[in-house]
Amino acid sequence: MKNAVRERLIFALDVDCFEDAETWVKLLHEKVGVFKVGKQLFTRCGPEVVHMVKGEGGNVFLDLKYHDIPNTVASAAVEAAKLGVTMFNVHALGGREMMEKTVSAIDALYPRGDANRPLLLAVTILTSSTEQTLAEVGIDRPVAEMVPRLARLAKEAGMDGVVASPKEVGLIREACGEDFVIVTPGVRPATASLDDQKRVMTPAEAIVAGSDYLVIGRPISAADDPVEAADLILDEMASALNKGR
Ligand code: C5P
Repeated sequence: MKNAVRERLIFALDVDCFEDAETWVKLLHEKVGVFKVGKQLFTRCGPEVVHMVKGEGGNVFLDLKYHDIPNTVASAAVEAAKLGVTMFNVHALGGREMMEKTVSAIDALYPRGDANRPLLLAVTILTSSTEQTLAEVGIDRPVAEMVPRLARLAKEAGMDGVVASPKEVGLIREACGEDFVIVTPGVRPATASLDDQKRVMTPAEAIVAGSDYLVIGRPISAADDPVEAADLILDEMASALNKGR
């Protein structure tokens, strides 16, 4: 069970240099199945960091949130897939055609069922956005309406899932069904600091709510004993899954 749970735990490699990234991967790769490489680390280190994680036996979530004209996003997605990442993401606000072209480009490289095919994820509305943020860019709809709407659009375009706040999982499950993948940051064990996260759930609550993968950074990286912190999170996820999700 622990191994299955390990595959669902994503550690956010929020560091600014290769050496620190390597130290975390070496320390945690037996506890964590997937390492999230975001814009800062990728801009600093490039594909080398992806090769390093894979060389240590880890999988990579390339969190670059592509948003551009359809051809550019599809071409970038092909490069991400060729790097061998396990999952990457685009902004659903880039629209149907952008996501459809991305899906088609990946279909041509690694058809569905191919072990090398990454999971194609969409970001709906960033959790840092409020109704006011949306209104400022001309979107006069509530976040709670936009999130399932964009998740549905991503699904229709052939994407595999979304990244979303744990509080949004219910709405997304309702809109997109059980097979749609949901990846959730904003997870905090009851004993951990909230840091700058506002709307959080514990690992067990997030699993029970319907999250497939949990993205966790500081509750592990800032713990006195990060390996022990990861272990406690895995135990909590395993017992929630055992209880029947
Ligand atoms: O340290 P913490 O557990 O808050 O890290 C969460 C990670 O997930 C960070 O890399 C953060 O950028 C990312 N993230 C998030 N909320 C989102 C999308 C991504 O916290 N909506």
